[in-house]
Amino acid sequence: MSKTKRFGMPNLFIRYVKNTTMKKLNQGVFLLFILAITFVSCEKTLPGAPDENELLDRLMEGLTNTERLQFFRGDEAFGETFTAETGLGFLDAVTDAFLIALSDPNDTNGNGISGHPHYTNIPSYVDVRINAIPSNGKYITRFGKKGAAYNLLHQTSGAYNQDMGITSIFEPIDPATQLEVDPEVSTQTVNDVVAYLKTLKAPIQRNTNDPAAVVAGQQLFTQIECSGCHTPTMETGFSPISALSYKTFSPYTDLLLHDMGPGLDDNYTEGHALTSEWKTLALWGLGLSFEAQGGMVFLLHDGRATTIDQAITFYGGEATGSKNKYDQLSETEKQQLITFLKSL
Ligand code: HEC
Repeated sequence: MSKTKRFGMPNLFIRYVKNTTMKKLNQGVFLLFILAITFVSCEKTLPGAPDENELLDRLMEGLTNTERLQFFRGDEAFGETFTAETGLGFLDAVTDAFLIALSDPNDTNGNGISGHPHYTNIPSYVDVRINAIPSNGKYITRFGKKGAAYNLLHQTSGAYNQDMGITSIFEPIDPATQLEVDPEVSTQTVNDVVAYLKTLKAPIQRNTNDPAAVVAGQQLFTQIECSGCHTPTMETGFSPISALSYKTFSPYTDLLLHDMGPGLDDNYTEGHALTSEWKTLALWGLGLSFEAQGGMVFLLHDGRATTIDQAITFYGGEATGSKNKYDQLSETEKQQLITFLKSL
């Protein structure tokens, strides 16, 4: 049973849990969602094996035996605590140079979008990327809602600590007492969870041949500049995991920070991000989230939007131009765009 679960909430681990107002509820929320997901998976997986592209909790192809073994150990440890966002290994393996090339901090192309990497201080326990491009002692960080976590070890130790109150060798301070305590989760378990997250396969787009909706929707996505932040295609650099090395993939994020205006400013920050700045959320796997939860999703950093259309109503700042173009679409065009997004 546990191995057939679908991650109905691919954003829960990182997108949903860091909000300060949600923190107290986190443990309960985790449990509820894990229960809900388990329930859904029983219903959906019993009649027959689901298509491979309907499943997210699978390991990627091309792994070595050691990488596979660690995946399964991590799967077990992870399942006890979190639900997953998938394809993170690919995002982890993108080079700093790639992210810098995507950024346009001074909006030199004049499209109103000025995304920039999040440069911040990193903890001593993370291994710096071989191709890192630091600036004034700060490094480009990329995980979490504000992109303030450097890599999956930083993100995972932080989630154990701040979201669950569990200390590790990496984050030894108990957030409740502010005192250093013995590790409550073993280093091996943390490392296994990191390896598991790294080797979960990327979501695969579905219904790509549906010309009326998916193909037309994809064109609209570019035309109204959703793609200005939700970058359709990225490439990885070298990775010691060969299945992740020099790969092209489609996350629909640029991993950069954008000022999203007052509607999304909730006075909360991490690292050096402004309170109105958020990292572009990846849109891959979006359609599977809708399906796995019977049409219910919780979008944006605090889950405040339950439809794609509603999410866009909160847009301002750098996303104003794109939002205005969206508002001018006909109902048919909006439907095409949404059908495309749900194919991701
Ligand atoms: C200026 C950059 C920018 C543009 C342009 C933009 N987005 Fe976003 N998008 C973001 C950011 C940043 C977030 C995360 C906001 C948050 O966490 O509250 C986001 C979040 C989303 C989400 C929520 C995803 C989730 O899992 O919660 C959807 C859906 C989305 N965008 C769709 C679109 C569509 C459709 C367009 C085009 C009309 C668009 N975006 C244009 C930056 C942008």
